[in-house]
Amino acid sequence: MKVEISREAKLSKIDHLFILAAEKSRDFDLLPALAGSISQAIKDARFEGRSDESITILSDAPRKVTLVGLGKLKSLSIRGVRAAFHTIAKTAKKQRDRNIAVVMPYALPNLGADESVRVLAEYLAGADYKYDAYITVKKDEKRLPLNATLIAPQSLDTKTLRRQQKQAQAIADGVRTVRDLGNAPGNLVTPTFLANRAAAVAKETGVKCTIYRRQAIERMKMGGLLAVNRGSAEEPRFIVLQYTPPRAKKHVALVGKGITFDSGGISIKPADKMEEMKFDMCGAAAVIGTIEAAAKLGLPVKITGVIPSTENLPGGRAYKPGDIITMMSGKTVEIVNTDAEGRMILADALHYASELKPDHIIDYATLTGACVVALGSEAAGLFSNNDELAQKLIECGERVGERLWRLPEWDSYKELIRSEWADMKNSGGRWGGAITAAVFLKEFVNCPSWAHLDIAGTANTEGETPRQARGATGAGVRVTVEFLQSLSR
Ligand code: BES
Ligand code: MN
Ligand code: ZN
Repeated sequence: MKVEISREAKLSKIDHLFILAAEKSRDFDLLPALAGSISQAIKDARFEGRSDESITILSDAPRKVTLVGLGKLKSLSIRGVRAAFHTIAKTAKKQRDRNIAVVMPYALPNLGADESVRVLAEYLAGADYKYDAYITVKKDEKRLPLNATLIAPQSLDTKTLRRQQKQAQAIADGVRTVRDLGNAPGNLVTPTFLANRAAAVAKETGVKCTIYRRQAIERMKMGGLLAVNRGSAEEPRFIVLQYTPPRAKKHVALVGKGITFDSGGISIKPADKMEEMKFDMCGAAAVIGTIEAAAKLGLPVKITGVIPSTENLPGGRAYKPGDIITMMSGKTVEIVNTDAEGRMILADALHYASELKPDHIIDYATLTGACVVALGSEAAGLFSNNDELAQKLIECGERVGERLWRLPEWDSYKELIRSEWADMKNSGGRWGGAITAAVFLKEFVNCPSWAHLDIAGTANTEGETPRQARGATGAGVRVTVEFLQSLSR
């Protein structure tokens, strides 16, 4: 939905006013005109502000006022607010509201009032998101777009509000790009489509985009990407995005796994839930969405996006267990499981990125089921060769509601990917699967400040959650934009 941030609500123009209310700490000073009827309704309904409560009061301007409970103020979290926003968006859609206003009377933890407003506006903008490009019978054909006004604290001046609104929009656009790309089916989003989409985003935002096709990939000797591509009838792509603002002091390379469908290849996956593997390009999408947001924000940081992309399919030409592949870096890999394909394409991309000598490299990948076993969908796995970078990313994530949890990448795990026949194997087996994958990637990184985000559990949800619709979440964009912003402060 379209979101505007304002200090006051034009009550006469609003169909539905939503007020977030925490337990025992209600603050309705913002709206003296309504205070009386609201207090009465709260008493009548015995509304306490618990996170599962909401009451709607009918009045004249606006016609509807809904109080949405947030739970205890001392345990207020971004996640709780997101759930409330999702409820608000669903209610507004169901009731065919066109103009809503949202009052959030409390600042978010760890954030100043201005950033708090930005984070809230950005979440609100995506709260009604649903991927319906292929629904031909739209139940609500005649539904008009939803507009929201987020009521900001009186302490913020108009200039600040305008700036935060613009920033919220830029980040919301980036997140939307990721969700649309992730949710779209694999027969639409092929490596070629992904590259074209990256080029379109680049064109729109003044970013340079170079697309390498098969021949160029062969010339660069990207053995990992070419091996995984062998089973696919779709051509591979290697996409490089370059955002080069004037006076940039730092250079960050962002690398994203772009497997547009992962069947497992010859080591084929079970049929159950295989359709979820269309999301295996969410790392790539996160890189595209982050660069889109960064360029729209005009962040003074040089960013290079690096995306290797292919399908992973079985077939007469597919790479096989037992094959030995020479990677772009010159190292050799014995294939023991063709389903460990993400690390094969990322290895070449990380080597490529290392050669650019950036200050930091961050990669995003729906890399391992093991990471989902360890952390579920609450946090992404974080691996890094640099404590300072790791700590900073965790803090940035905490501020914007994207949790990262650090796991080790100790050299002692290398034993598990030791090969008899080559420099290493592409899988270390079940135990510590997320870690051995990270340790494999590390073999191809030549940069003292590298982080790997395993977003297998956070990139998409298997069903609707209290916080959002089913499907791609946009994981990676918010934390990275926050990190890039912190570099320019
Ligand atoms: N794309 C998958 C990882 C994945 C699994 C993401 C489940 C989201 C949900 C990846 O390519 C993969 O297949 N990994 C294997 C590695 C194994 C063969 C060493 C895995 O996790 O089982
Ligand atoms: Mn796989
Ligand atoms: Zn995969």
